Amino acid sequence: MNRTKIVAVEVNPTELIAIPPFSFLSICYSQLIHFEWTYTYYIALVHYNIVFHSYDEIKMLRKEVIRMEYLDMLAKLGIGNAHPGGFAATIKQLEQYPLQTNSQVLEVGCGTGRTSCYLAAKGYDVTGIDIRSEMISKATLRAKEVNVSAVFLEGDACSLPFESHSFDVILVESVSIFVDTAKALSEYYRVLRTGGKVFDREMIQFKPMPKEIYDEVTRFFQIDTLWDYQEWSQIVNKAAFKDTQIEGPFLFHKINEDLLEHPDHHQHIDAGSFYDAALWEVTNKYNSIMERYQEYMGYIHFMGTK
Ligand SMILES: C[S@@+](CC[C@H](N)C(=O)[O-])C[C@H]1O[C@@H](n2cnc3c(N)ncnc32)[C@H](O)[C@@H]1O
Repeated sequence: MNRTKIVAVEVNPTELIAIPPFSFLSICYSQLIHFEWTYTYYIALVHYNIVFHSYDEIKMLRKEVIRMEYLDMLAKLGIGNAHPGGFAATIKQLEQYPLQTNSQVLEVGCGTGRTSCYLAAKGYDVTGIDIRSEMISKATLRAKEVNVSAVFLEGDACSLPFESHSFDVILVESVSIFVDTAKALSEYYRVLRTGGKVFDREMIQFKPMPKEIYDEVTRFFQIDTLWDYQEWSQIVNKAAFKDTQIEGPFLFHKINEDLLEHPDHHQHIDAGSFYDAALWEVTNKYNSIMERYQEYMGYIHFMGTK
């Protein structure tokens, strides 16, 4: 997928007049890093072409920019298990609910493909799909390095590029919350064979969040809603699956903790990441949210059958 790097900043237009282009750019970057959204107008720089946007347009852009920052962090750092519970939860799930031999598995939102490759190494026929091309490149590289034959494709969870009844298992780890969840669940159902199973692990509000915390967390992850257990139950039960079962809620593990417990030997960090201030900023923000709000951050794991 062709993605244009968009950076958006908010500046006071009267300050622009006397500023030569280069210091202007550096002001933009420093504003970007701090995300200080304090003025009336914003300017978006698209591949260094400066484009003016109205306040309403940029409100839309701003949402997109922050979303890119969080998912960019995962992609640039090549995080292998960017889901609550981490790789430990994935391993536990697969031990607790072993998949039938020869199952055809679709991992939706596979990221850098660690879970898909783990399953492929166990002999399953695995396809991983993700909307971001960087994730697919890293997942493909991982499969090559670990010498497994998982297939990785770019595609959208809400419009899966597969015929109906194509898979025995749909595995999802922290993806459905980032998209139109009901639409994604209906797509998982569509591509499953009759009797096939879905397993999905998603973030929830572990306990009611004060509004300012809720706003900060949803803004950071760029999700419309962070549902609680009851709300998730309604969504899962509204979907067409039968025999639905919801485990949890569990408290979140930080990505960093999981990396210590289950180091990823095929994590590929983009060159230059160490010097990428915006990347550090979003990483720090992630750590800070997880540190300060850990008592609120949880997840559930739901299962269903077609
Ligand atoms: C939090 S990460 C989880 C990645 C992976 N499941 C893991 O556990 O490491 C969310 C993933 O969902 C992908 N994603 C977001 N929107 C998507 C969509 N509409 N369709 C497919 N993948 C999507 C992102 O690119 C990202 O890789």
